[in-house]
Amino acid sequence: MVLTMMRVQLWFAAALFGACAFVPVAQSQPAKGKVVPKLEPVAETKLLMEGMADPNTRALGKILAAKPKDAESWAFARGQALLLAETGNLLLMRPPKTKEGQDPWLTHAANLRESATALARAAAAKDYVQARTALAGVANACNRCHQSFRVGVRVDPFADDR
Ligand code: HEC
Repeated sequence: MVLTMMRVQLWFAAALFGACAFVPVAQSQPAKGKVVPKLEPVAETKLLMEGMADPNTRALGKILAAKPKDAESWAFARGQALLLAETGNLLLMRPPKTKEGQDPWLTHAANLRESATALARAAAAKDYVQARTALAGVANACNRCHQSFRVGVRVDPFADDR
């Protein structure tokens, strides 16, 4: 049941990402017969946080609260980690307009992509200790960006553990 709900979340996130991935292609301008895809942000950052970053991080906290017992759970965790890594890519497309905000934004978004990719690798290797460490790294990447941009949201995927 829990897994079914998480699956729904994952599909929701996948659908959101699918929409983001599709629109730029649809708007591509053919140049000499060649299609040049142009990436354009679709959802507001807030929606990206609510639709992808937050639900996938929470679900990973739950799935990694104890060592996953079967290959299916690990595969699921890996999919969620990959969605977080792709969220990093989507954030890279929408830096703030102010000049001084751009560098930190791009750094934090790239850190999210990197730490979530490390988590996906740990899940692929079914390495529980490594996966938990990587999820803590993901939360750090979230929190560092929030601190930089004075967003009052503290991310702690293991909060329910205690
Ligand atoms: C590159 C910067 C950046 C990163 C990385 C980032 N966030 Fe955010 N986050 C923001 C900004 C900016 C907002 C405020 C958006 C707004 O209110 O318009 C925000 C808002 C939020 C919110 C509140 C949304 C709401 O409804 O107001 C949540 C929850 C959140 N982030 C979760 C996360 C999680 C979980 C991660 C890591 C997986 C993460 N964020 C990574 C920049 C970031």
